[in-house]
Amino acid sequence: MARALRLILVGFGTVGQTLARQLLARRDEISRRVGRVLVVGVADSRSSASNREGVDLAKVIRSKKRTGRVGELGTPEALELIREVDADVLVELASAGGTDGEPGLSRIGRALNSGMHVVSSNKMPLAVAYAFLMGRARGRDLALKYGACVGGGIPFFEFADACTAADSIRRIDGVLNATSTYVLTRMEQKGISMDEALAEAQGLGYAETDPSMDIGGVDAACKIVILGNHILGKSFSLKDVKGMDGIAEVTAARVGATKTRKKKIRMVATVDTTPRVSLAELPQTDPLAVDGPVQAAKFQCVSSGAKFIGGEGAGGLSTSLAVLRDVLAIGDLERR
Ligand code: HSE
Repeated sequence: MARALRLILVGFGTVGQTLARQLLARRDEISRRVGRVLVVGVADSRSSASNREGVDLAKVIRSKKRTGRVGELGTPEALELIREVDADVLVELASAGGTDGEPGLSRIGRALNSGMHVVSSNKMPLAVAYAFLMGRARGRDLALKYGACVGGGIPFFEFADACTAADSIRRIDGVLNATSTYVLTRMEQKGISMDEALAEAQGLGYAETDPSMDIGGVDAACKIVILGNHILGKSFSLKDVKGMDGIAEVTAARVGATKTRKKKIRMVATVDTTPRVSLAELPQTDPLAVDGPVQAAKFQCVSSGAKFIGGEGAGGLSTSLAVLRDVLAIGDLERR
């Protein structure tokens, strides 16, 4: 029997648990497509579980629900697990840490050094050290995939790769933080306060663990840096972002006045020669004036003009499917 693709999952919040459910429910279909996929290690911030024959994911999900941990206290922490457990892919699903990229950056670095491919939904390590991490992956002939970092499930990178196959993109504008768009939409349509709307977004699983990353613009800044690097071939890092205007100061009165002028306030991230995040008042008919938990982007192609992509771009299911897409792509690579 062909060897299984062995995964270590680090981070077991909304995205991790949804991915685990997908792997369980779709085991046969996945196996037919890329061969057996086995989770041999799982870690959250306080505990871990591992088994070289495959951990019992249903049990791990139950444990997380009951105790808030994936395993017993005192079990190896994530970095140790990556060192000790024989695996093919690190799936980094933890929430973004500090703006130094840690602790995800060390985990991704260690996994690549140990010869593992990496799939990450944690955007901070990519936003602060993209060139370094990609260089390390390429140098070792490993895949480092990050489709879930931008678009929350919408295939922005695949769409961009198709746009650039016979053309090039010179500028990207995107409404890249679904939480902020959801909050502004609720304020516009229901007249509720920002705090109420943000509490809804948190309840629906759209917001980051620290929601100030959403409304303060950091999440959108990370995403535009990663898009600029992947699509425009730049080597930006988060510190290169010039201006990061979030929505925290947007009042209900301003939202109402903008609506009267048939416009919508949206947080727009842009990258051409520099990455930046600013608040814009868009005409209601602008394709980027989207509503709800949506991410959307405009790719300005050099020869063929503007191309748009968008859709529901947050939440456990769509994000975990983006992670699964990357895992399956690595499964395909390994089977060749
Ligand atoms: N918190 C993020 C957002 C999740 O609201 O866009 C998807 O990246």
